Amino acid sequence: MNQDYQGIEQLLAKKIGLGRDKIGQRQLIKAINIRQKACGVNNVSDYLKRLESSAHEFQQLVEKIVIGETWFFRHREAFFLLRHYVQTEWLPSHSQETLRILSVPCSTGEEPYSIAMTLLNSPLTSGQFAVEGMDISQTALTIAKKGIYGKNSFRFHDQVDHEQFFQVEQNRYQICESIRHQVKFSAKNLLSAWPPNHPPYDVIFCRHLLIYLDEVSRDRVLKTLDRLLSEGGLLFVGAVETSLIKGDNFRFLSRPSAFAYQKVPVASSDLPLTPPQPPKPDQRSPLKKRPSATLPKPPKKEIQLSPLEMAQQFANQGKLKEAVQCCQTYLQRNPIDAAGYLLLGEISQAQGNLEEAQRCFQKALYLRPNYREALVHLVLLRESQGDRQGAAILKNRIQRLDNLQG
Ligand SMILES: C[S@@+](CC[C@H](N)C(=O)[O-])C[C@H]1O[C@@H](n2cnc3c(N)ncnc32)[C@H](O)[C@@H]1O
Repeated sequence: MNQDYQGIEQLLAKKIGLGRDKIGQRQLIKAINIRQKACGVNNVSDYLKRLESSAHEFQQLVEKIVIGETWFFRHREAFFLLRHYVQTEWLPSHSQETLRILSVPCSTGEEPYSIAMTLLNSPLTSGQFAVEGMDISQTALTIAKKGIYGKNSFRFHDQVDHEQFFQVEQNRYQICESIRHQVKFSAKNLLSAWPPNHPPYDVIFCRHLLIYLDEVSRDRVLKTLDRLLSEGGLLFVGAVETSLIKGDNFRFLSRPSAFAYQKVPVASSDLPLTPPQPPKPDQRSPLKKRPSATLPKPPKKEIQLSPLEMAQQFANQGKLKEAVQCCQTYLQRNPIDAAGYLLLGEISQAQGNLEEAQRCFQKALYLRPNYREALVHLVLLRESQGDRQGAAILKNRIQRLDNLQG
């Protein structure tokens, strides 16, 4: 890339946080050349000057380079967790308040509408929650406001109640008014300033943006999200973004495939916010023995936990190294337990060790060929690695499994 292209790359990094090589050089150069021609500018050097002086043209280039890939109920476990959180934690102590949820970036609206659908099927009434969808792309927001979608917005059809939430005409799905009313859309560059007294959100979905940002911008965005989120509130990120959340302010919630963090309240920063989940039948350890002396101490002394339960609890607290150690101990004693590999895979993913995560999910699937959770994890990993074909094969497998189970 010559200097002028590099100049544009730097401008994009400065203004929208786009990291180098995050969307591929060829794609970037192609977008620049299309816009340069559309402006009737002779060379890239002049086009760079145009970008520096014209906010309108800068926005046009942004529209060309952003990746708006999204669909309804993407990582559906996130929405199960949202409903569970609202029902068990938020509502009991805020019954007179309005739950405020932000979806940024919201792209063409599938994510904030999925949030509204989830909450309309929860104990909340429509007056008890408000969803805001924000994105830098005006093109995406126009589609979001219209609320008309095609088949591509639904990757797993069984996840969406078409009759309840859409008017369907052949392959055209129009969001119904009751859902549209719940979501307000606005344009926002997440790197731009927010008013200092902006009211906090109880839940923020910030999924599939952090991976495109450079390190400095990512830190800046995470600080902003921290400031915008109320204490005890939830932050949802994308499957491959869990490794990017650093620091003590957010505690990883080890709910399979939800990719969620809870903002730690200042006063109780070393207590687990959510009690450990009762183990699923296949996660129950057959061991009756006390945990080995070489393991880290369990977080709650009064409860005798199996190594796998301890691993889950450490993961809930964001203590990932300890969680891995417990998982490995468990697997040494229970080498054919698929649930142990699934958990180790999730923890490895949270640590950013995607290779190990993949190995564990594959092992879980080998041990239990119809393990839906493991299949979903592998789909997400393949998609994040750009392996669409591999992901599609696994999605078909999930679909067949769902059909079998009725
Ligand atoms: C892959 S989509 C994510 C949509 C949705 N959150 C999801 O996970 O399905 C990424 C979106 O980020 C938006 N985006 C990119 N840079 C942004 C920025 N600096 N501020 C706000 N939105 C941005 C793009 O316009 C695009 O719609």
